[in-house]
Amino acid sequence: MKITVVGAGNVGATVAQRLVDRELANEVVLTDVVEGLPQGKGLDMLESTPVLGSDVKVAGANNYDATANSDIIVITAGIARKPGMSRDDLLATNAGVLKSVTEQVAPRSPKSIIIVVSNPLDVMVYVALKVSGFDRKRVIGMAGVLDTARFRTFIASELNVSVEDVQAFVLGGHGDSMVPLVRYTSVAGIPLTELLPADKIEAMVKRTRQGGAEIVGLLKTGSAYYAPSASVVQMVEAITKDKKRILPCSVYLQGEYGMKDVVIGVPVKLGKNGVEQVMEIKLTDSEKTELNKSAEDVKVNIGKVKLS
Ligand code: NAI
Ligand code: 2OP
Repeated sequence: MKITVVGAGNVGATVAQRLVDRELANEVVLTDVVEGLPQGKGLDMLESTPVLGSDVKVAGANNYDATANSDIIVITAGIARKPGMSRDDLLATNAGVLKSVTEQVAPRSPKSIIIVVSNPLDVMVYVALKVSGFDRKRVIGMAGVLDTARFRTFIASELNVSVEDVQAFVLGGHGDSMVPLVRYTSVAGIPLTELLPADKIEAMVKRTRQGGAEIVGLLKTGSAYYAPSASVVQMVEAITKDKKRILPCSVYLQGEYGMKDVVIGVPVKLGKNGVEQVMEIKLTDSEKTELNKSAEDVKVNIGKVKLS
């Protein structure tokens, strides 16, 4: 198993570190445009392997030849939010980055599965999909796992229960119009609505929608990376171990949920082939309206991207 992580910044380096810590690959390649950065971080990680007892070969590079024949490519390259910026403010710069990165990695690893992380996430998945020409099963965005993890954290903390017992789903685009599905949220099988009053739940939904901005506001110089990298690694593990996990991921829809030619977060089955099934769950009229609104927001941004 060879995994390339493009972008050796906060998210990329932490993803690579988690892969090494957990021995989830035989080989990890870290790339970045900044000279020395991926090489330095890669060597530092490699030197941690005897202590960790992890036989992962880690290498850094500024070119793409070292990425050839990767099984999975995680793209974290681009710019991150600063206070006052929305994810959409990153659109023009990161669309260019995604296009050039995908043009480099896809031909060198034609059988790979691409996991996109760069923002605005859903639009960047669209760019990677169109530029790579890969089947939609092999171009997947990470956002739903993170947004759901945030929602689960707030619920566990409010109820003072184990995070492991909280099941939730956040669908839609990775933006302010994301859709935390309260009706499908439970604690050890008990519906959340039985455990907390509506106003408390609504406050947690709002905090989840603003979860990324909350961290940006605290860090001031960048955005979240510990929870994002853990979320990427959960998706990687589902693929490398063919776990068939059901996780909310950002994928290109071809009629599911009544939508076409848009990328949005929905529950999917993740296994060795990438997205093995898009799960269509029943939604109420108001949930459908929220999901449609979120998809419209993504479509507006897709319309702003120039691929040629
Ligand atoms: P960062 O600034 O720490 O790292 C980004 C790295 O990308 C930098 O090292 C930079 O040199 C590199 N880079 C820029 N252009 C490149 C190119 N053409 N080729 C290769 N490398 C290039 O940013 P961070 O915090 O790691 O975030 C990365 C991206 O991930 C941002 O767009 C951020 O908004 C997004 N993000 C998305 C999340 C999600 O839920 N989908 C969660 C967290 C971050
Ligand atoms: C987040 O939600 C920045 O999209 C990133 O933290």
